Amino acid sequence: MDKILIQGGRRLEGEVAVSGSKNAALPILISALLTAEPCYYQGIPDLVDIHTALKLLSGLGVRVKKEGDSTVAVGQFMLQADHVHKLEAPYDLVKTMRASFLVMGPLLGRFGAARVSTPGGCAIGTRPVNLHLKGLAEMGASIDLVHGYMEAKAKRLRGAKIYLDLPSVGATENLMMAASLAEGTTVIENAAKEPEIEELATVLNKMGAKIHGAGSNIVKIEGVDELHGVSHRVIPDRIEAGSFMVAAALTRGDVRILGARPDHLDAFLLKLKEAGVALTIGADEIRVKGDGKAKSVDITTLPYPGFPTDLQAQMMVLMSVSEGVSVITETIFENRFMHAQELVRMGADIRLEGNRAIVKGVDGLSGAPVMATDLRASVSLVLAGLVAKGKTEITRVYHLDRGYEHIERKLSALGADIQRIKG
Ligand code: EPZ
Repeated sequence: MDKILIQGGRRLEGEVAVSGSKNAALPILISALLTAEPCYYQGIPDLVDIHTALKLLSGLGVRVKKEGDSTVAVGQFMLQADHVHKLEAPYDLVKTMRASFLVMGPLLGRFGAARVSTPGGCAIGTRPVNLHLKGLAEMGASIDLVHGYMEAKAKRLRGAKIYLDLPSVGATENLMMAASLAEGTTVIENAAKEPEIEELATVLNKMGAKIHGAGSNIVKIEGVDELHGVSHRVIPDRIEAGSFMVAAALTRGDVRILGARPDHLDAFLLKLKEAGVALTIGADEIRVKGDGKAKSVDITTLPYPGFPTDLQAQMMVLMSVSEGVSVITETIFENRFMHAQELVRMGADIRLEGNRAIVKGVDGLSGAPVMATDLRASVSLVLAGLVAKGKTEITRVYHLDRGYEHIERKLSALGADIQRIKG
């Protein structure tokens, strides 16, 4: 297993380009199942989770072709689901990447059947899929749990009025895709409003779907008989962009984050400003200058447009070395503080009380051997290593590779002393 070694204390300077959004690309690639025509995608990030999704789709019979020459045209793919011969998402893939469960809606919508392994929990929580299943059942699917697999059938899904008890991102995506080919109109109430939802609706509408209101809490989908091919470049990854902004603030550097969409990060940018971080915001870039210690601010993670849970761990690092005391409340996942104990080993002063972390700013962190536990926790350890005195060694970096494209290359180009030791 690879390790990452960081010698802390370097100021980050220069510019870094944000990769395509993992959480937009995953449902978009899966939406290729909804048509027999070729779908062309650009800006797909080179991530483990993307490779897992492509492996899952080709296992179903989807043709997957990397477009352009491998050097220049990074992230260009053609997918074509004109010979789907299997309607099953196997346990070994679904357990490594929960987003595989998103094939349920398209398979049911287009083929009337699906056999998808239940994802099971993960490090950050139990992460049930009951809202996905409830919505599909309301659209007429019969679903049984058989030997750990959800077996679903529906002659043809019919439009329904669905209320989500929680604004679940995945459930909204699964149901939007299923409803695109259903008979009649579906209304999803209390839908998730993340930019990735709007992005998926944009792609589906380009394919001929009739979706209105994506990005608001009421999404209306008028079912159509079939969808056609599409060509689309995915939006930049707002969570990667936010992670680099914290890196710049932590190291008191001066970094331009190119391709960042400020409109996708309002709550986060306001919190950085409240913490005294100097931001210069352009249309599609954000410059971050960290001059001096940040001020402690309180943070509560909420569904979009609230503060994103995927940037909570990164913000905890900044608060660990800020001036004052910060209370961080995690309301989305029940176990998303596993990075806290590793940060404490690096000298942070963090006390956990249920879903709250009390973070008292300290003068500095010191490098240590630490272990990554989940995707965003792993990047918070990299951030801590950048600002800690001495050497930090991070193990289990396969978590990091799921969601950050060549992060050590990008950070080295900004001046960090970081290297990957192949294991
Ligand atoms: C998506 O996960 C993202 N993943 C997550 O990013 C992100 O943290 C999350 O949305 C919240 O923003 C992708 O887009 C691939 P949810 P998802 O359904 O769809 C509960 C990352 O680091 N819930 O909005 O699984 C659930 O337990 C990942 O990139 C139910 O109770 O999130 C959680 O507490 C981590 N029943 C809350 O809702 C359901 O049927 C939010 O989950 C579904 C969800």
